[in-house]
Amino acid sequence: MTEYRIASIPGDGIGVDVTVEARKVLDAAAAKHQFGLQWTEFDWSCERYAQTGAMMPEDGVEQLSAFDGIFLGAVGFPGVPDHVSLWGLLIPVRRAFAQYVNLRPVRLLPGTASVLANRSADELEMVIVRENSEGEYSEVGGRHNKGQPGEFALQESVFTRVGVERIIRYAFELAKTRTGRVCSATKSNGIIHSMPFWDEIFAEISAEYPEVRGEQCHIDALAARMVQAPDRLDVVVGSNLFGDILSDLAAAVTGGLGMAPSGNINPPGEYPSMFEAVHGSAPDIAGQGIANPVAQILAGAMMLEHLGEKAAAGAVNAAVEKVLSEGAVATPDLGGKATTTELGSAIAEAL
Ligand code: NAI
Ligand code: MG
Repeated sequence: MTEYRIASIPGDGIGVDVTVEARKVLDAAAAKHQFGLQWTEFDWSCERYAQTGAMMPEDGVEQLSAFDGIFLGAVGFPGVPDHVSLWGLLIPVRRAFAQYVNLRPVRLLPGTASVLANRSADELEMVIVRENSEGEYSEVGGRHNKGQPGEFALQESVFTRVGVERIIRYAFELAKTRTGRVCSATKSNGIIHSMPFWDEIFAEISAEYPEVRGEQCHIDALAARMVQAPDRLDVVVGSNLFGDILSDLAAAVTGGLGMAPSGNINPPGEYPSMFEAVHGSAPDIAGQGIANPVAQILAGAMMLEHLGEKAAAGAVNAAVEKVLSEGAVATPDLGGKATTTELGSAIAEAL
């Protein structure tokens, strides 16, 4: 029997609640499809930061390198600045393991009231391919003249040819397996160095794929199109910042953050990939037992698919769809009264 070693990092807030439920569902899928999931849990979080001054131990990344996959809840909690939680755990892992693709599939699931009420599930099927290792999320820059009238902050973006080429190529390869359309998020009218560079590389790679229709769209217009004409979008590729914003928007138009999964993927498979929900630790509802576990469960299905367990991944997706379409067990964000545990258990049982 194949055994996969998975590092589980529940993190903070609802990250903890939804990870428990997702593990339950994934264990049920593993039992049914005859493979093993050997979980190792890490307490890396803002709580750990408050106690020890670090989100994870110094050799954290090294410890994770031994695993087949990393399953992350969410990090971030009031009292710990968000840049500390992000740069102390998530970003070092994404970069050390060259998880340069952040893949965010978007679907309208049954039983979900989309803000775009008359749209069908087909029209609202998209995938956001977000650059995950460079771009606007860079450490280059600084704060100067602190406390002086001339105080200023400088934040540089980093766009490398290697980094831009590989993410755009990933998007085109993905489009070949889907509807054959890629839309690139740009803003080369306002951002005059990095975005024209991005556009040039997009045009070069587009020429290598005559069978895929590539187009570019300024980020502001693209945001409007995602709401007004989502049927005209399928694979959307964007820089780190643009991809981040668009994926929350895409989640919102298809039923909310509680339903949106995400994978931080190292395409060559040299390092473990990491799977998590798009949402954060939601301090506003943490500890109430009402977070929707679907996003984390679907992130788990993405992890199974990545590990090569396609049948089990399909079974998890089908179980989620079954429970949501029946509508009897739904968390408050879906208009119901069920708890996180009740929805997680219903999905595990449906398996
Ligand atoms: P958030 O995603 O945590 O919450 C945004 C809103 O969506 C809140 O009203 C929340 O209640 C709701 N929501 C999110 N997930 C839900 C779920 N599963 N079920 C029901 N409702 C849900 O984003 P926010 O408030 O901007 O950030 C909170 C903290 O999370 C911050 O510290 C932030 O840095 C961190 N964060 C961490 C991420 C990660 O670990 N990858 C990603 C995004 C934010
Ligand atoms: Mg985000």
